[in-house]
Amino acid sequence: MSLQTKLVHAGRKKRYTQGAVNSVIQRASSLVFDSIEAKKEAMENRTKGALFYGRRGTLTHFALQDAMVEIEGGAGCYLYPCGAAAIANAILAFVKTGDHILVSEASYEPTQEFCEHILKDFGVETDYFSPLIGRYITNHIKPNTKVVFLESPSSITMELHDVPAIVKAIRKVNPEIVIMMDNTWSAGVLFKALDHDVDISIQAGTKYLIGHSDAMLGTAVANQRCWDQLRERSYLMGQMCDADTAYMAARGLRTLAVRLKQHHESSLKVANWLANHPKVATVNHPALASCKGHEFFKRDFSGASGLFSFVLKDHLSDVQLSDFLDNMTHFSMAYSWGGFESLILANQPEDLAKIRPVSGIDFTGTLIRLHIGLEDPDDLIADLAAGLDRIKLHKNKVNALQSLV
Ligand SMILES: Cc1ncc(COP(=O)(O)O)c(C=O)c1O
Repeated sequence: MSLQTKLVHAGRKKRYTQGAVNSVIQRASSLVFDSIEAKKEAMENRTKGALFYGRRGTLTHFALQDAMVEIEGGAGCYLYPCGAAAIANAILAFVKTGDHILVSEASYEPTQEFCEHILKDFGVETDYFSPLIGRYITNHIKPNTKVVFLESPSSITMELHDVPAIVKAIRKVNPEIVIMMDNTWSAGVLFKALDHDVDISIQAGTKYLIGHSDAMLGTAVANQRCWDQLRERSYLMGQMCDADTAYMAARGLRTLAVRLKQHHESSLKVANWLANHPKVATVNHPALASCKGHEFFKRDFSGASGLFSFVLKDHLSDVQLSDFLDNMTHFSMAYSWGGFESLILANQPEDLAKIRPVSGIDFTGTLIRLHIGLEDPDDLIADLAAGLDRIKLHKNKVNALQSLV
């Protein structure tokens, strides 16, 4: 079955839909047992889809969890209230005091902060590696390394890992190490992490699964080896999402293939336009050769989503940034991404250098991160063209004022 068809049908079992097209929304903390025997049965099957207690999930959660496993593979999917919770709890489920973990230096900043603040206080040491490390990851593995955490493409700078090389090298040195990946950019479908022998594929479902910027969710799909430990420890740490959010994510799956197709097409069109703009130094779009690790994108991904970045030749002042970004027509300034709308944010290289502890930063201009939504890409290009022009206008204004002085 093609992925497009799978996304329409996944998880829609009769038990969950009860005669409707979509799953029912079953909101519950308590789930009532008809008899002592029924309670005993529910207890025995509480990890296998029996209705037991709200935190173990209801029919609505089971529908989404089943769908995620059908789509991403693996043995089970745990649900969290947001992506950051999925990341933190997945790592916590596999480490103890005295352990060591390896994390991509280009991972989402709060992932690094979780390691630096919370794991450190618990006596778990973190080392960082370059996203382009490939098989040389083994140089960083210690006898107490328990987890390797990947994110590809990287946050903000968009470098891609050679995931198969990294995984193969780790397995050779220590097959017990749990390999996790923040797979949010690919919505868990453009890169099939578990097919590449990654143990746990994590997503901020907040982005493409929800797809409409109106709810938060985290998902972690685990293989057989890691599923029981991930599930039981996440449960003990009180993790679960509400039934309404689970419903919205399942609904988001139905349109995911067509949305991603449009994000791919539109983001590429905008990226190609930017690549020819005189004010742009580099475009970091995984589908363009200018993106570091583009060869791994070509080999391992079935398409692109809507998030990428580009670097300007100039380092913009705060005033220039305001001129550019305060006056956009279609792009909004906001954190997050993956919704139907286009977003724009700026990052200065000196700030990015602080969260690239190994390799630093090899550019001097201001970086702009875009999420290309479902608007007509020609309207988005016109908006960007006008914004980039405003930078020049401002510079001229400053120069004119300076010449007067
Ligand atoms: C790559 C990545 N991972 C994880 C997260 C965290 O997701 P959430 O905001 O749902 O906690 C984000 C949020 O922006 C993200 O960009």
